[in-house]
Amino acid sequence: MIGVQRFSLFNLLCLIIFLAVVLGQENAQTMRDKASLLSFKTAIVSDPQHVLEDWNSLGVHVCNWSGIRCNKGRDQVVELDLSGRSLRGPISPALANLSSLSILDLSRNLFEGHIPGEIGSLFNLRQLSLSSNLLEGNIAAELGFLHKLVYLDLGSNRLEGEIPGTLFCNHSSSSLQYIDLSNNSLSGKIPLADGCKLKQLRFLLLWSNHLVGQVPAALANSSGLEWLDLESNMLSGKLPLEIIQKMPQLQYLYLSYNGFVSHNGNTNLEPFLTSLVNASNFQELELAGNNLGGEIPPIIGNLSTNLVQIHLDANLLYGSIPPQISNLVNLTLLNLSSNLLNGTIPPKLCQMTKLERVYLSNNSFSGEIPPALGDIPHLGLLDLSKNKLSGSIPDSFANLSQLRRLLLYENQLSGTIPPSLGKCINLEILDLSHNQISGVIPSEVAGLRSLKLYLNLSSNHLHGPLPMELSKMDMVLAVDLSSNNLSGTIPSQLGSCIAIEYLNLSVNSLEGPLPVSIGKLPYLQKLDVSSNQLIGEIPESLQDSLTLKKVNFSFNNFSGNVSSKGAFSSLTIDSFLGNVGLCGSIKGLPNCRKKHAHHLAILSILLSLLITPIFCIFGYPLMHRSKFQRHLAIFDHGDLRDDEEEEKKELKYPRISYEQLVEATGGFSASSLIGAGRFGHVYKGVLQDNSVIAVKVLDLKTDGEILGSFKRECQVLKRTRHRNLIRIITACSRPDFKALVLPLMSNGSLERHLYSSHGLSHGLNLIQLVSICNDVAEGVAYLHHHSPVRVVHCDLKPSNILLDDDMTALVTDFGIARLVKGSDENIPTNDSTSFSSADGLLCGSIGYIAPEYGMGKCASIEGDVFSFGVLLLEIVTGRRPTDVLFHEGSSLHEWVKSHYPSRVDSIVQQAIDRCVPDSMPKQYNKIWWDVVLELIELGLMCAQYNPSMRPSMQDVAHEMGRVKEYISNPSSLLIEEVGLKVDALSLG
Ligand SMILES: *[C@@H]1O[C@H](CO)[C@@H](O)[C@H](O)[C@H]1NC(C)=O
Ligand SMILES: *[C@@H]1O[C@H](CO)[C@@H](O)[C@H](O)[C@H]1NC(C)=O
Repeated sequence: MIGVQRFSLFNLLCLIIFLAVVLGQENAQTMRDKASLLSFKTAIVSDPQHVLEDWNSLGVHVCNWSGIRCNKGRDQVVELDLSGRSLRGPISPALANLSSLSILDLSRNLFEGHIPGEIGSLFNLRQLSLSSNLLEGNIAAELGFLHKLVYLDLGSNRLEGEIPGTLFCNHSSSSLQYIDLSNNSLSGKIPLADGCKLKQLRFLLLWSNHLVGQVPAALANSSGLEWLDLESNMLSGKLPLEIIQKMPQLQYLYLSYNGFVSHNGNTNLEPFLTSLVNASNFQELELAGNNLGGEIPPIIGNLSTNLVQIHLDANLLYGSIPPQISNLVNLTLLNLSSNLLNGTIPPKLCQMTKLERVYLSNNSFSGEIPPALGDIPHLGLLDLSKNKLSGSIPDSFANLSQLRRLLLYENQLSGTIPPSLGKCINLEILDLSHNQISGVIPSEVAGLRSLKLYLNLSSNHLHGPLPMELSKMDMVLAVDLSSNNLSGTIPSQLGSCIAIEYLNLSVNSLEGPLPVSIGKLPYLQKLDVSSNQLIGEIPESLQDSLTLKKVNFSFNNFSGNVSSKGAFSSLTIDSFLGNVGLCGSIKGLPNCRKKHAHHLAILSILLSLLITPIFCIFGYPLMHRSKFQRHLAIFDHGDLRDDEEEEKKELKYPRISYEQLVEATGGFSASSLIGAGRFGHVYKGVLQDNSVIAVKVLDLKTDGEILGSFKRECQVLKRTRHRNLIRIITACSRPDFKALVLPLMSNGSLERHLYSSHGLSHGLNLIQLVSICNDVAEGVAYLHHHSPVRVVHCDLKPSNILLDDDMTALVTDFGIARLVKGSDENIPTNDSTSFSSADGLLCGSIGYIAPEYGMGKCASIEGDVFSFGVLLLEIVTGRRPTDVLFHEGSSLHEWVKSHYPSRVDSIVQQAIDRCVPDSMPKQYNKIWWDVVLELIELGLMCAQYNPSMRPSMQDVAHEMGRVKEYISNPSSLLIEEVGLKVDALSLG
């Protein structure tokens, strides 16, 4: 017995020792990893999203900490991914103790200081992503020890100095496939010594640095390269022919803005283009801004037909465009501008039917504009300016329904403006200036409502009157009709071009008075009517303008008194020269006769008598208000005053006073209240001129965040203009009262139509719904891609979509929108008013928020695309994303997705039952069906979980435009289809 007992005791002891050894070893690694992560955490200065909160030495297992992934045995940390978490602070060298780490991703944060060289001892590292931080100093040479590294991304930091040679050339066969050091301040040569082989390399991105020297010959060993971007450096030498010809996989080659030259003493581009012929999947060629000499060789037509873009602009290329270029049938962008090219424009260009943008400006092209260009169906931009083109503008341009910008200025074009240009209903810019065009301005062209940016017909031989139709251009910013022979009077209807900032009618033969309405244009900054035969007084409305900066009345027959008040206070005599009848207080003008002055004196005495009692009446309320001012001080973050200063300077909208708003809204009476939100209240009002407005009054008792949101809405509205975005009338900002004045949309919000409280059907049919979705897509695409500052809306939903008289949809409520400078929309920010706010309240509305916002990602344009997707699905299903149905875990888009594609028919049928009333012809049922299905598919595409998989808003808008076109003209489609069937039958 004793023997047995001793044996089992011994056994137990062995087991305990064995376990202690094994567990001890496991623990040792986990403990080391834990300790090193904790010292990494200690170095973090700011963690606004509280990502590292669960990184606790007690309690939670290290493998469960946010951003951590362990191996299967859960005893080694193999991945640390904290990308896009707004973390600030240095990168602790202690990370070097995570000896099994394979992926280290700290990109898109605010990490600062140097990259610790110790990271070079993470021998198992395969991915190192530190891009989009604030890292500075040299790249540590020790990173070259990372032999297993596949993916290296240090782009968009502040790194400087030379790239260490060890990085690319550490041992005989590096495993690197992706290298991105772009957008830093790196200098010196690309360190790839002869004999170095980056055999696996597929992406080399070094753009926007200060690199010098030639492209190293050893790069030819990377024969699998797909993407080479060396743009915007100071590289030199001949175009790297020997390297490129070894790269049959090449897809993107960007060498623009360097100092490359072509072969044979900068005269021959053919050898280099020949080297690209074998790259069968080649997509984009960018060689702009290099001073390349030589002709464009015909061999360019032998490049891959997959080629989508060619940029050869800003070089020294001469000769003519080889017609062979038209073999490149997939080309969408051709930029040959700013070269020394001559000859005629080959009509064969029209064989490239996918062309969207063609830039041939600033060359010496001659001959006529080939009418065949009108056959390029998707042409959106045609810039032929600054050439020697002659003949007239082809009538065929009428076919270019997608054309947005037509620039033909500074040529020798003659003939008349074809009225058919009026059919280019998407035109935003039309510049025909500095040609020899004659005839009248066709009313069709003057009536192009789409013109958003500018109309420039100056310096031609146009005659006849200013067409009344010009008044339809209510979005145009600038109109220049100067230096023609235009006659007649200036129509007062020009006052309807309300967006106009610049109006130049100078050097014509215009007569009659200057209409008062011109001075009332709310955004007018520059007005030039000089050298005409205008008469009468200069309208006081101009003097009262809050926006006018520059004006020229010279050389007309104006008369009367001009004072140097208001908008005229900064003007000198130069603006009034050559008008014998003018007098007044502008220095250099003769004094007016005394009688007027006398009159004024009496008036001012009368006024001063009147003013005293007014003060008495208003004294009390003014004093009373100071209480509110003190109240407001609590929310004053210091920048409020600056903001008001800025608004005073910048936001010179028509002034509507507080008193006028009080009157318009019946003293903000309960009966004019039409809405309320977390910002305050919205009142309906009628101004004295009977215009109906919505006054959005900020409740000053709300917190500072809302105040910030009000300010952002002002900022956004000031900077955007688009027919599908609500337009601000004015902002009323005083210390005790802040309000936005917007036009009141007679048809209310989309929400109201979708969910009528009367239980009746909402009345919007499928055609209207498609049109509304298209409007919204256009408006948001403008915010994302075309507005002067990129704007992320952040809160797209039916209640933020308003409908005007003719059911055009306008996107509104920019209260939580985010302005993003340039294109780097994802740069995290520590700005307290932006999205990192911990409670997530500001991230948009439940049901519409993109899932990644919940995971702490910044507000992004992809987030808006998600919301738009939800909106589409909501419209199709007639179900709110916040519906009870969806409370059990799944969301609206998940629910639709679960029905797609096999069970989607029931959803489509229900949508048709709801949105296709009897008045819509049943024979088109297939079309209604297609359209609903398309909306569902687009909605699902937009509402994908992975933000990078979602389409851009621009693509969405394009797609919606197609759907709208399809649905708005079903009869033509049906005829086509029937026609096809008949054909098929007769063939059969
Ligand atoms: C044009 O590009 C598309 C998409 O890359 C491709 O499928 C097609 O084959 C190309 N066309 C030609 C003629 O190469
Ligand atoms: C184009 O320019 C070249 C010189 O670069 C000249 O020899 C040629 O005659 C010009 N062609 C035309 C059509 O003007």
